[in-house]
Amino acid sequence: MAILLFYAQLNRGIATAIVAMPLPFMKQIMIKLKRWFYNLKRNRIFKPEFTLQNGQKLYFRLMLPEDQPLLYELRAHLSDQSLSRRFHVDAYRITPERVQKIIAELVQVDNVAQTALMALYRDDVGEHIVGVARLALVTDEASGQTAEVAVIVRDDYQQQGLGREMLSRALRLARLMGFKKWVAYIQTDNLGALRLFRSLKLPTQAHTSHGSTELQIAIE
Ligand SMILES: CC(C)(COP(=O)(O)OP(=O)(O)OC[C@H]1O[C@@H](n2cnc3c(N)ncnc32)[C@H](O)[C@@H]1OP(=O)(O)O)[C@@H](O)C(=O)NCCC(=O)NCCS
Repeated sequence: MAILLFYAQLNRGIATAIVAMPLPFMKQIMIKLKRWFYNLKRNRIFKPEFTLQNGQKLYFRLMLPEDQPLLYELRAHLSDQSLSRRFHVDAYRITPERVQKIIAELVQVDNVAQTALMALYRDDVGEHIVGVARLALVTDEASGQTAEVAVIVRDDYQQQGLGREMLSRALRLARLMGFKKWVAYIQTDNLGALRLFRSLKLPTQAHTSHGSTELQIAIE
């Protein structure tokens, strides 16, 4: 009985303290709580390392403007097929000038309208990118909450679960950024990528035209 009475008093005390709390102080607490919750979600996207099936550990971070040299190195490890699957152009059309232009554009990420999550490893030389998942706001979309998603994994790192891991982290990132829908353009004969997107088991509509399949994916 005494314990119950003490508990009731304690609860009343806390309730009184909250009601009596000045508004600006309450706002500060709310902001801190929001920030804590945001960081918790953010850490779940970046923090856990990923171990490939061969035991190699990879870490994740967002792309920065100074990552151009790392992208050149990534490009050197990509087959013509992977490049054309990602950028929807025949590899022979991707001249060195075009590569330079594409890379200069790719590093322009503001992390609001577009962002790029990268999987990397580090050795004595420095960092090396092995995968990139990019989200870009679709500007002609009335709702403004659709992101185009594209993913690429270095050829010597494919088929070890990294593509799936990148997409699942990109999905959490997209939700954190407030996107409600994804759109992905995949060459119709790119069965691996189509299978990968479908394996997310999200509500998806597919439209195929001129050898390209557009996937509209609800990600809420
Ligand atoms: C598509 C791509 C990102 C997949 O990356 P990955 O690391 O090889 O994929 P994962 O090892 O995580 O495989 C996940 C699932 O994808 C599917 N998949 C991936 N590659 C496949 C292939 N070559 N054939 C069939 N299914 C494949 C499978 O469903 C697989 O699941 P499972 O292992 O249970 O069978 C990679 O092949 C790539 O970079 N391709 C070039 C760029 C591209 O096509 N991007 C997509 C358009 S933006």
